[in-house]
Amino acid sequence: MLLIAIVVLLLTVASLCHWRQRGRRAAVANLPGPYCFPLIGALHRVINLNPKNFLKRSHKYSIELGHLQRVWVLNRLMITSSDVEFNEQVLASQEHLVKHQVYKVLGQWLGNGLLLSDGKVWYQRRKIITPTFHFSILEQFVEVFDLQSNLCVQRLEQRANGETFDVYPFVCLAALDIIAETAMGTKVNAQLAESTPYANAVTECTALMAWRFMSFYLQSELLFTLTHPHLKLRQMQLIRTMHAFTTEVIKQRRQILEGMQRVGAEQPLQNEVGGKRRMALLDVLLQASVDGRPLRDEEIREEVDTFMFEGHDTTTSALSFCLWCISRNPQVQAKMLEEILHVLGSDRSRAVTMRDLGELKYVECVIKESLRIYPPVPLVGRKLQTDFKYTHSKFGAAVIPAGSEILMGIIGMHNDEKNFPDPHLFKPERHANSERSTSSFAYVPFSAGPRNCVGQKFAQLEMKMLLAKIVREYELLPLGEPVQAVVNIVLRSDTGFQMGMRRRSQP
Ligand code: HEM
Repeated sequence: MLLIAIVVLLLTVASLCHWRQRGRRAAVANLPGPYCFPLIGALHRVINLNPKNFLKRSHKYSIELGHLQRVWVLNRLMITSSDVEFNEQVLASQEHLVKHQVYKVLGQWLGNGLLLSDGKVWYQRRKIITPTFHFSILEQFVEVFDLQSNLCVQRLEQRANGETFDVYPFVCLAALDIIAETAMGTKVNAQLAESTPYANAVTECTALMAWRFMSFYLQSELLFTLTHPHLKLRQMQLIRTMHAFTTEVIKQRRQILEGMQRVGAEQPLQNEVGGKRRMALLDVLLQASVDGRPLRDEEIREEVDTFMFEGHDTTTSALSFCLWCISRNPQVQAKMLEEILHVLGSDRSRAVTMRDLGELKYVECVIKESLRIYPPVPLVGRKLQTDFKYTHSKFGAAVIPAGSEILMGIIGMHNDEKNFPDPHLFKPERHANSERSTSSFAYVPFSAGPRNCVGQKFAQLEMKMLLAKIVREYELLPLGEPVQAVVNIVLRSDTGFQMGMRRRSQP
């Protein structure tokens, strides 16, 4: 009896849901999609997705059903797209700016920071933050990039013995030092033995959240807490450590700023303790105002935390993949070295300037090509708050209903031969010759439109500096296993980033 009652109840719920969704089903009936069972939809397709199989499966589904698909999972409608024509309309839209709910995993750490916020809060913060990456401020950061890159080169010396090693940990700590010093004006000494508890917490928390990100059920804070209470406690501890650190840094810098304003210094923030004369991104936030009032410490903390997360994990991924690609392409490496020696010379004691970096045109193409094959942010997602009207050469003019989720595959577009001939070949020259697809939206490692990456220029300069210094000093050797890209919030490699290094003879 009980069993029959359960079956009847389930069938009733299923029919009710099906009936309630009929309008939404009709709206996307023009799009191909996998078979959907009653009630659960295509749950079978997502339930056992994990970082390792994600890319392979997405590729397989896209060959079977095309680049633009509708997928029902329970009562959720997801549109998955590596279709340039469709993605261009979503990315360029001024209306559909709300992030996909999967980003909520980062919520307790980053709060309402720029990456996660939406609506008025996002708009106001974006207006404040965009100028923080102004040319004149980036120019001051080049000195930090230069000094921290020297330290990274020095640390790599221990591995320059022609044996296989994983370059990831070296690059990760360098990126962390760079973002901490530029975002907060504070050294965390991640590359030195005496690294701070804060630096350790950032790396550990990033890894924990990356793991949760790719699991359908662990994305929910409630299910994560219920199934992994010890990890939940650890996550809370790490977040407390990070928030306490950033709050203290903000407090101290606010006091310095107020003190200097009291004594009427003309350019208060260019003269701070320790004899440094450099702005930090934080200083710009401390001087900003919203609706006529200064930002509260908590609001500033959310932005600083966002910089710390976005600014180290993505660049670490980008740099590691790029170094690996260089190690496997000796001709590219030789051409890079020629340019680096021509522009920077061989005097290691000369500080590299913004102007030098601007002249490294081939290095720029190498970075672009690596970001094409291995974009650190392989997917971006939106949650539609209102209906989204689009037109498509194959599917016509149609509407994706409000409440739907859109997942756009940057990696899919970048590795599609329609957009880039011989997509698996590492050819930096294609960026110099603009041997490109007709739409600029086919190549979007930093996303595009109103929610594109604010740190794009920062990241490019930082990468150029580190790559140029490493390649000038060491020959990168094609040793060890190949990379195996996995999706863990950002793109990483399951096999690490294996290579060898050998010190170059002095020219
Ligand atoms: C190679 C390095 C980087 C890559 C590939 C990258 C890529 C991206 C992408 C694709 C987005 C859009 C995400 C989305 O729509 O879901 C984004 C957003 C963002 N990035 Fe980056 N990023 C990089 C470095 C940085 C750095 C160094 C910073 C800061 C110092 C930064 C700060 C941000 C912020 C604050 C946002 C949110 C912007 C908004 O929503 O208005 N990124 N980034």
